[in-house]
Amino acid sequence: MIKPFKYNPSNPNREPIPINEDYRYIDSWDEHHVRMPCSTLYTSKNGHLRWSIICQLLCDLKRKCDTHTATVEDLKRTIENCVECHYNMDCLEHLINEIYSNEQRLYFMSTVLSNLCSLALNVDLICSRPPPLLRIRSNRSITMSQRQAASLLACAFFCLFPYRTGSKVKKEYESFQNPNFNTLYQRGSIQKIEKLKCILHYFERITRKMPNGVITFQRYVLSDPFTPKWSKSTNGLIPMHLTTAKKIEDIDCVLQVDFANKYIGGGVLTSGCVQEEIRFVICPEMLLSLLVCEVLKPNECIYLIGCERYSSYKGYSKTFQYNGDYIDTKLKDNWGRKWSHVVAIDAIFYRDRSTQYNMKSIKRELIKAFAGFHTYGQTSDHAFSIATGNWGCGAFNGDRQLKAIIQLTAASEAIRPLIYAAYGDKNLIESFYEVYDYLIDQRAKVRDLYCYLDQYCNTRSRCSLFDFILRTPVSSLGS
Ligand code: AR6
Repeated sequence: MIKPFKYNPSNPNREPIPINEDYRYIDSWDEHHVRMPCSTLYTSKNGHLRWSIICQLLCDLKRKCDTHTATVEDLKRTIENCVECHYNMDCLEHLINEIYSNEQRLYFMSTVLSNLCSLALNVDLICSRPPPLLRIRSNRSITMSQRQAASLLACAFFCLFPYRTGSKVKKEYESFQNPNFNTLYQRGSIQKIEKLKCILHYFERITRKMPNGVITFQRYVLSDPFTPKWSKSTNGLIPMHLTTAKKIEDIDCVLQVDFANKYIGGGVLTSGCVQEEIRFVICPEMLLSLLVCEVLKPNECIYLIGCERYSSYKGYSKTFQYNGDYIDTKLKDNWGRKWSHVVAIDAIFYRDRSTQYNMKSIKRELIKAFAGFHTYGQTSDHAFSIATGNWGCGAFNGDRQLKAIIQLTAASEAIRPLIYAAYGDKNLIESFYEVYDYLIDQRAKVRDLYCYLDQYCNTRSRCSLFDFILRTPVSSLGS
């Protein structure tokens, strides 16, 4: 784990001090660590040390930025020469050359880009060692300063992470995302430009003032002893509040759910633009999870802690737009992390919606939700509320009523209150409250909810799950 800093909680405005104070880079070049562009084992096609070539190219670009002569063409050429391959970068070019005002372009191409060059050039000094990978079945975490995150993101901006891009991707990366931004630069939908605006805005913000906090990525594997015996659980239902007024990211002091892809970040660097992708571009430090996290298994989740929000937005999906600066006023915890807790859990994608009504799929979703919700032996202080919503019910085609009951069951088993952000679906709010009150009146337990799910799958009834529950008294379930 890199936790390469000392943090003084009595002085939260002071940047963490590196523990490795002599700033000597300690290399690791293996399948357990991010392969860093600054590694001495990373060579170019003709066998030269790649890092010295990259440094030369970035220094040249920086010099042009500092003399206000850098063009987007220079930037493109630098990236292509660094990685020795050709990229289409129409989106990046279009944004900087045609959408930015003269003033914006000049500021980006001089001050911001110069700072990005410095952050990438100094990645060895700033990060001091390669971050470990959060691999399948490992309960590991990585904590880093926001400056280290910025330096790694600058490397992603210049597409410097080896072996993640191109056709000859090494087998070891098949189960990882590509963290380099090249796919976002490629010609494509209009939302890509809006996503790029958010990310470049982040770079502008950290150029004006480097944030001085800390972020953590933590992988959690739900082990067998913690897997609930759903049909036997006598836990009662947790308190629940439904809202249409707020989006998940606007609900404070809760565990916010990221409606994730098993490859974390989903289509954030390609054409995706729904809940997860939007969250990652307004909080770009989250993009580093693409660098370190291996694909998620059904009993795994990723916590993203402390990532700051930098951009406002409006619209959604095809209408998504960057909407200016966002000042994140969340307080910090005593590690210096913004009080932002997000858990990435990936639902099942149903090509055919009718295939979701079976207990094999439902048990998988229960385990996934529970992996994200439960507090694995920590004190009740960690059982703060969960803010979720229509998880798995947009791009992934899930049934809202089914997912609502699955999440209520998992949260009740984890004994954590639920805030359900229904995203404007007033019908869902009314009908879910009706079902919830009905269940509370009858003192329903987790095992009863499980029994409802089981019986609903076994009936040939075409009615909705909520109607089925309202027609079936708890006492008749035999659970
Ligand atoms: N707050 C609350 N609810 C929201 C918000 C928000 N900010 N945004 C959307 N919703 P979706 P999925 C509601 O499709 O089906 C991505 O590509 C809204 O009703 O993002 O689990 C991932 O990378 C929306 O229809 O989640 C995965 O590949 C619903 O939540 C895939 O999508 C579902 O949002 C996951 O798809």
